[in-house]
Amino acid sequence: MKAQLNRRDFIGKTSVAGAGLALGLPSVLRGAQTAAKPAQLGGPKARATGFPSWPVYDQTEEQALLETLHSGQWFRGSGKAVARFEDEYKKLTGAKHCIATSCGTSALTTTLGGLDIGPGDEVIIPPYTFVATYNVVVLNYALPIFVDTDVETFQIDANKIEAAITKETKAILPVHIGGSPADMDKILEVAKTHKLPVIEDACQAHLGEWRGRKLGTLGLAGCFSFQASKNLNSGEGGAVLTDDSDFAEICYNFHNQGRMRKTVAFPYSGSRGSNLRLTEFQGNLLLAQMTRVIEQTNRRTENANYLTRLLEEIPGITPAKLYPGTTRSAYHLYMFRYDKARFAGLDRGKFLQALSREGVPCSGGYGVMNTEPYVSGLAKNARFLKVYGEKRMQQWLEQNRNCPQNEKLCAEAVWFTQSMLLGPREDMDQIADAIRKIQKHAGDLAKA
Ligand SMILES: Cc1ncc(COP(=O)(O)O)c(C=O)c1O
Repeated sequence: MKAQLNRRDFIGKTSVAGAGLALGLPSVLRGAQTAAKPAQLGGPKARATGFPSWPVYDQTEEQALLETLHSGQWFRGSGKAVARFEDEYKKLTGAKHCIATSCGTSALTTTLGGLDIGPGDEVIIPPYTFVATYNVVVLNYALPIFVDTDVETFQIDANKIEAAITKETKAILPVHIGGSPADMDKILEVAKTHKLPVIEDACQAHLGEWRGRKLGTLGLAGCFSFQASKNLNSGEGGAVLTDDSDFAEICYNFHNQGRMRKTVAFPYSGSRGSNLRLTEFQGNLLLAQMTRVIEQTNRRTENANYLTRLLEEIPGITPAKLYPGTTRSAYHLYMFRYDKARFAGLDRGKFLQALSREGVPCSGGYGVMNTEPYVSGLAKNARFLKVYGEKRMQQWLEQNRNCPQNEKLCAEAVWFTQSMLLGPREDMDQIADAIRKIQKHAGDLAKA
């Protein structure tokens, strides 16, 4: 979407909506909204127009890309844009060091490579995450150990981490899923007790905060993604943040074929490495996208908080809770649980379909990763069998089945994407109207 709505327009629209369609919408008006038939049954849509599209860009991005094009300096070794982006991202997050990478997966790969995690090692991860969190561990022939989900917050259940630690554990890799913080107090406490590094998967959590500190700056390192769907976007891209100067240099070397910052002609560090560098085009694009990231983040926060207040009033809809240490969620995803018992038994699949038909795009989110065939298949992988043995791999399969809360969550979750939170407040009212309408007609929808 080209940026069309300026700040003044936005404030104008939100305040009008705020005055006319505030939380205490008169019940007579609410009644009119819910009385209409659901779109699924031939009625009018609760929302006839689309939500804000993504990405947002204008001449700022055009100029940035052309500037790099005409400079002829397209890779970080010759240009300045990636280094400038790293400086700006450090300023934005308060981190001491930033290493831009080609994507979020490569940011995670860089940190695990930097820790020299390999065959025989175990890394603790949540099962409620994007597959990349799992893949980076497996790629190093280390064993991912799933710790069950806290169904209330959708995050890793930090109280269950300690029981999963063994003498082979080499790192804790929590994910700030949906951009909301995992329980970092508890995670850092357990990590300290067991002298384990924490690598935060903050790939969805740009500008999220825990006790006033930016997510991705609390553990040894934090990893970010700038893939197309993310709140900060360069198509593909990523970054590692760390306050540890030695680890920063190790990560820099790893992402640059094991080569150090240029002080001599061929500065090989002697450590492992790969080419995981960001291009100058992406660096400059990110600098342009950063000119609006704070305003967009504020807008998401405002809309998400309002939507939560609306949805909390609907029986059977439970928005994901935030831990008390949360000072900001990045709201990469707006997530809630759906209880079909309060919707006349209408199953989640049909609820999602009906909501989409109302003009509110939604999804059921992640599957049960810990028991998916692509994960269980690892127990048959010849390399893993060689490193861990048949008995350990069978035991691992058993362990993986021990995430009952994650299973429950995967059956109940509903997601909205971040760009749906970028419009006026009225959009949130229409989302809530659509859900109330479905609830009122749930019996008929269940029969249809
Ligand atoms: C939680 C999480 N971790 C890691 C990644 C991987 O990032 P990328 O797609 O940039 O490689 C993603 C991307 O969606 C993610 O959501």
